[in-house]
Amino acid sequence: MKLCMIGTGYVGLVSGVCFADLGNEVICVDKDLNKINKLRKSIIPIYEPGLDELVKKNSKSGRLKFSTNINESVQKSNIIFICVGTPTKKNKYEADLSQVYDVAKKISKNIKSFKIIINKSTVPVMTGDKVEKIISRKVKKNLFSVVSNPEFLREGEAIRDFVYPDRIVIGTSSKKSNKILKNLYSPLISKGAKYINTSRRAAELIKYASNAFLATKITFINELANLCEKLNINVEDLSIGIGTDKRIGGRFLRAGPAYGGSCFPKDTRALVDTANKSLTSLSVIKSVINSNNKRSNLLLNNISKILKNRIKNKKITFLGVTFKANTDDMRESSSLKMIPYLNKKGAKIKYYDPTGKKSEFDKLKNVQFKKNIKEACMSSDLIIIHTEWNEFKLIDLKRIVNKKKFIVYDLRNIYSPEKIKKQKIQYFGIGR
Ligand code: UDX
Repeated sequence: MKLCMIGTGYVGLVSGVCFADLGNEVICVDKDLNKINKLRKSIIPIYEPGLDELVKKNSKSGRLKFSTNINESVQKSNIIFICVGTPTKKNKYEADLSQVYDVAKKISKNIKSFKIIINKSTVPVMTGDKVEKIISRKVKKNLFSVVSNPEFLREGEAIRDFVYPDRIVIGTSSKKSNKILKNLYSPLISKGAKYINTSRRAAELIKYASNAFLATKITFINELANLCEKLNINVEDLSIGIGTDKRIGGRFLRAGPAYGGSCFPKDTRALVDTANKSLTSLSVIKSVINSNNKRSNLLLNNISKILKNRIKNKKITFLGVTFKANTDDMRESSSLKMIPYLNKKGAKIKYYDPTGKKSEFDKLKNVQFKKNIKEACMSSDLIIIHTEWNEFKLIDLKRIVNKKKFIVYDLRNIYSPEKIKKQKIQYFGIGR
C-alpha cells in the first residue's frame, strides 16, 4: 500500500520505516528540511537501536522516501498517518493539538480519491471527531475516513514493539477502513498480534488508559519500595511475589527513580484533563502524578541523609542521565531535577551517559560531562546509578573510583548488595 507518515519523530519515523520493511511504499514527511536531508542520507536524528540499518535498507529498495512536500505526498498516498507532536501545554495538563489540526487542514486540501487518515499520535479522546470535522469542511464524507490507531512503542525497543505488538488497536466504525487496515497489518497479525477493532473514541482512550495504568504500576512499586526500606524487605522479592500472579504480571514492577519520558508524564496529565472536562475525577491517576512528582525530592532527601547533610564540595557522579536506558531522550528525566538541586547545594558533579553530553546541564557550573565511566567516577564520594545501561552492570567500581571510601546509590538496583558490600563499599539501593 502507499502510505504517508506526517511527522518523523519517534512514532512517525519508526512506524514509517517498519511499514516500508513490510513491503509498503512509504513517504515520511516533515517540515524540517534539515532533518529530511539528513534522513535522505540515512542520518538518523534519534537514538533508536537498529533504526539506521532499516532506514538504509528500505531507502535503498526505493520503498522508503523522505519529503517536505505534504501536498504531493498526501496526493500520492492511500493512507495518511498523523504522527506529529502533542506536547502538554505550558503549566497545564491539556495537550497542545495545534500541530494535529494544522496537518488535518493541509490533508483536506489534497483528497481527490478515497483516503484513510489515521491519528497515530497520542491524542485526547474525541480528537478524531475534530479532525473529521476539519476535513469535512473541504471533502465529501465518502472520500475519507478518520481512524484512531494508537502506537505502543517504547523508546529503545520501538522496532521490536512495532514488529511484535501485543495488540493492534483500530478505532473506526467504517467496515471499508477496517478491512483495508486489517490487510495492512496482516503480516503482524499472522505472527500473533491481536487485532482489535473498536470505536474511534475507545481506541483513543485505550492509549491513555494503557500508559496511565503502566505509570500507576510503577508508582505502586516505587511507593512500596519506600515501605520495604523501612521494614528491611527486598522490594525485588515483592515484585516477584506479586508479579507471578498472572492477574498482576511481573513487568513494569521495577522500582526506581521517578518515571520520566515523553509519554507517561504527558499522557497521565492529558487523561486527567480529559476527565476534568467531562466532570469526572480520576483520583487514582491524580495521586500517581502527585506521587511521581514528589519522588525526586524524596530521593534527594535520601542523598542528603547518605551524605550526612554535607553536600557542599562533595564529589558526586551520575552514571546515566537519560530518562531510561537505550535512549538519548532527556524529556522529564529525573536527572533534570536531581542534578541542578545537588549543584545548587554546592556539590561538584560529573556525569557520563553513553549517548553523550547533554545541553540541559551546559549552564550549570561544577557539572561536567566526562567521556568515559572511569573519568566520571574517579575519586568521587558518591556514585549514583541513574539509568540501567548494560555497560554499568559489570564495572569494577573499587578499581575505577580509586578511593578508599566512597558510596554507591543504585537507583536502578543493577548491583547485588551482597557482592558490593563484600568489597567494603557502602551501598544503598531502592527498596532494599
Ligand atoms: C511508554 C510506554 O511503555 C509505551 O507503550 C508508549 O507507547 C510510550 O510510553 P517509554 O516512555 O518509551 O514507553 O518508556 P518505558 O519503557 O515505558 O518507561 C517509561 C518510564 O518508566 C521510564 O522512566 C522508565 O525508567 C520507567 N520504568 C519502566 C520504571 O521505573 N520501572 C519499570 O519497571 C518500567
